[in-house]
Amino acid sequence: MTIPYPSSQPMPAITPVVPPSGASRPRLTFLGTGYLGATYAICFAELGYEVIGFDVDAEKIAKLAGGEVPFHEPGLDELLRRNLAAGRLRFSTDIAETAHFGDVHFICVGTPQRADGMSADLSYVEASVTGLAQNLDRRALIVGKSTVPVGTAEWIEQLVDKHADSQLGVEVAYSPEFLQEGFAVEDVLRPNRIVVGVKSEWANSMLYSAHKGVFDLAATEDREVPLVVTDFATAELVKVAANAFLATKISFINAMAEVCEASGGDVTQLARAIGYDPRIGNRFLQAGVGFGGGCLPKDIRAFQARAQELGAGEALRFLHEVDLINLRRRNRVLQLAAELLDRRYGPAGPDLSGTRIAVLGATFKPNSDDVRDAPSLAVAAQLAKAGADVRVYDPQGMENARRAQPDLTYSPDMIEAVRDADLVCVLTEWSDFRNADPEALARVVAGRRVVDGRNCLDSTLWVQAGWEYRGMGRP
Ligand code: UGA
Repeated sequence: MTIPYPSSQPMPAITPVVPPSGASRPRLTFLGTGYLGATYAICFAELGYEVIGFDVDAEKIAKLAGGEVPFHEPGLDELLRRNLAAGRLRFSTDIAETAHFGDVHFICVGTPQRADGMSADLSYVEASVTGLAQNLDRRALIVGKSTVPVGTAEWIEQLVDKHADSQLGVEVAYSPEFLQEGFAVEDVLRPNRIVVGVKSEWANSMLYSAHKGVFDLAATEDREVPLVVTDFATAELVKVAANAFLATKISFINAMAEVCEASGGDVTQLARAIGYDPRIGNRFLQAGVGFGGGCLPKDIRAFQARAQELGAGEALRFLHEVDLINLRRRNRVLQLAAELLDRRYGPAGPDLSGTRIAVLGATFKPNSDDVRDAPSLAVAAQLAKAGADVRVYDPQGMENARRAQPDLTYSPDMIEAVRDADLVCVLTEWSDFRNADPEALARVVAGRRVVDGRNCLDSTLWVQAGWEYRGMGRP
């Protein structure tokens, strides 16, 4: 059932229930204060809920409790400090305290790709649910929020049955999140939909109360937040299906970039032209060095692995192709580098020894410090492996990049990175790079050659400033 809210129709079947704690609004906990859990905990406190963020990582909890967000997310620091000061938000490493406090507990721990294959590692989900269930002392709702393989909510229910006192009546639900890094605060406070997978009216009502702040905010702004109430499996699939669709859209346009490269077309104009059709739409149609991050790459792999287990592997075989197209784009940067630097591209890749290359961008996208599966950093490492003297600069991702790729050389700013470079590769579309003055950069480089891995530069300006320019999927 899909319930638009507010609606002229009365809300069907959502009868308000008193939270088990007796508080007027359910008290919320978020287990796992990584990117997802910390953002949710802070934003729900901002919506007026009493919140605890729990983590086993004492260092992370100390930072958050001290008013410091341990990652870069625009707008979040201010909300953290405001809600700590208001006393609505606390952080804890004490599972008993967390279990006792909450009416609705959201599981927000990581579900990374397993080291031994493509499927998701559910060990953090298992540990957090088990620890929580063992410490519950009254009725509560446990809600899966991390991205998980379909069937996980049922498994969480079994864990709860095993570890929680059966007299308490603890229930389970699943509600996916759709946060985009860089826009996460807006995405929590003003989501474009809320999806809940529930098995009982009580769970539905509790989750509704736990999101009422979101609906109320929407009502004051004359907006609607559609609510989709469904079963566990559908709710779990919604999340991975959405990410699979987005990844497919990006790989589709990158496949078109390959065809443009072979035929002399320009993928940026092609994307613009097809994007005017509202059935296609122009978002997520930016050809470039491909998608990365902690979500899309691992999610499409875990989705294939799960479908395979379910005997539906064939249905998702195309996602393998989506992955391959995506990874091929990284190689394209090496090809362009070889072409511009006049080096042969052999079966083992190009020999770039003796060249100096500036890589601008280390994060998987701008306005983030996240370097997980970042195409930019992967390409920087490949360029270095091909023998180039690589200098990397990123406005926010330096610390994480250094940790992930300690062998690369990092420059303190953009000018230092490009100084004496024979080639500049722009691989993350930070505004600092998009708006960089090609005349000024031309004065410090050794050779005016640029690969625009995100098609984010004004090629006319760069060419006018004497640069040899190569974009992705462009003549
Ligand atoms: C993605 C989804 O967009 C969110 O809806 C989802 O909640 C999240 O994963 C998650 O599963 O938690 P995010 O990883 O923050 O969010 O990043 P996106 O904005 O989706 O970008 C992913 C990658 O695709 C980036 O590397 C970006 O540069 C690339 N991209 C995006 C393109 O190459 N072309 C485009 O047109 C758009």
